[in-house]
Amino acid sequence: MASLGHPALIARHRPFPVTHRAAERWLHHMQQALESTPDIDADSKIRMMNFFRHTAFFLVAGDELKSPNQQPLCKHGTSNQLPM
Ligand code: HEM
Repeated sequence: MASLGHPALIARHRPFPVTHRAAERWLHHMQQALESTPDIDADSKIRMMNFFRHTAFFLVAGDELKSPNQQPLCKHGTSNQLPM
């Protein structure tokens, strides 16, 4: 099941523009949600945010491969345009 996770997650997000900016905003709201949840311990919150950050930017990379010429590149990816 775990090996199906990433392809399924990319497919689920394909209709949406998951940009660098959208990812930062998504992570901000996820952090707010965790901060307002006292039942989760601090160490778990850090581990969850690390996982969310990794996965969010994985989805941003997938989004940039989808249409590399239709939107500005992620600010960290200015020199790695893929050949057509
Ligand atoms: C990076 C920024 C992200 C944006 C902008 C984003 C946006 C969205 C949108 C628009 C949907 C569809 C909602 C709907 O159809 O009603 C969705 C679904 C979903 N997202 Fe994200 N997402 C992001 C990151 C993530 C991450 C990091 C995860 C997992 C760690 C995740 C897990 C999911 C799941 C599981 C669904 C399906 C929920 C369902 O079908 O009930 N997303 N996301």
